[in-house]
Amino acid sequence: MKNLLTMNQLSNEEIHAILEDAEQYRLGKGWTPTNMVFVSNLFFEPSTRTRFSFEVAEKKLGLQVLNFTAEHSSVQKGETLYDTVKTLESIGANAVVIRHQEDHFFEDLIGKVSIPIINAGDGCGHHPTQSLLDLLTIKQEFGKFEGLTISIHGDIRHSRVARSNAEVLTRLGANVLFSGPSEWRDPLNTFGQYVGVNEAIAKSDVVMLLRIQHERHDEKSNAENYLQEYGLTKDREKQMKKGAIIMHPAPVNRDVEIVGDLIECDRSRIFKQMENGVFARMAVLKRALQQIEQNQEVNNNV
Ligand code: CP
Repeated sequence: MKNLLTMNQLSNEEIHAILEDAEQYRLGKGWTPTNMVFVSNLFFEPSTRTRFSFEVAEKKLGLQVLNFTAEHSSVQKGETLYDTVKTLESIGANAVVIRHQEDHFFEDLIGKVSIPIINAGDGCGHHPTQSLLDLLTIKQEFGKFEGLTISIHGDIRHSRVARSNAEVLTRLGANVLFSGPSEWRDPLNTFGQYVGVNEAIAKSDVVMLLRIQHERHDEKSNAENYLQEYGLTKDREKQMKKGAIIMHPAPVNRDVEIVGDLIECDRSRIFKQMENGVFARMAVLKRALQQIEQNQEVNNNV
């Protein structure tokens, strides 16, 4: 069964195959199911990009979309995540896309449900489809990962994007640097080297900024001097290498992680990342569902 829970479950070959499929979808080609296939999107945390790009991806593939909102479901009556997913499986969902505030929410489901689970972000844990769309954006720009220097800036400790990206970019041959406040260093994220913000920006082919994850902090953080101390100012943008690009998973805190005027500058790929999110998610859905359809055809022919 083709769950997608973390990036480290994917081999390099599988990652390249997903990126190739995403490119095919960008060109208007690629697999679509011939049978009726149902997918349910379960979002227990707020989302704009991931939720709607999954929905667009599903509709482009011709899937039947079962949208779920926790506040209008039996979650309000105490139903567990397992019972919700098992219910959807029972009534015909062929896969579930889940965003949840709990790290590793999927551990309660693995081996107990027989439909693919796609992780759309688990707490501070992982965000594999964000990672795949980031890889697609970098590959479109540079055609490779080997030898690139990619700096990840900010709230590393609470960022599932940093966790997913640092591991896979290192594995694919990039040199990962981290930069940000010492209190937000992640002792468990051992893939990158910490350097000062000016050094990181001057050395990087990709400057990847992160949102401050206030909702995951024990105490409210003061972001007043953050831009000057750690963010991408206009002066720092001038120090970037020729051809270097700016990325951010978004939503962006304007004039905190990055000066608002730079969000749509020539170097910025922030909206390109969102566009690529649809194609990367189409490829992930293909990986999850193609085998199911083949199994259905085999069963129909028995
Ligand atoms: N980048 C990202 O995951 O955005 P959303 O929270 O809006 O889905």
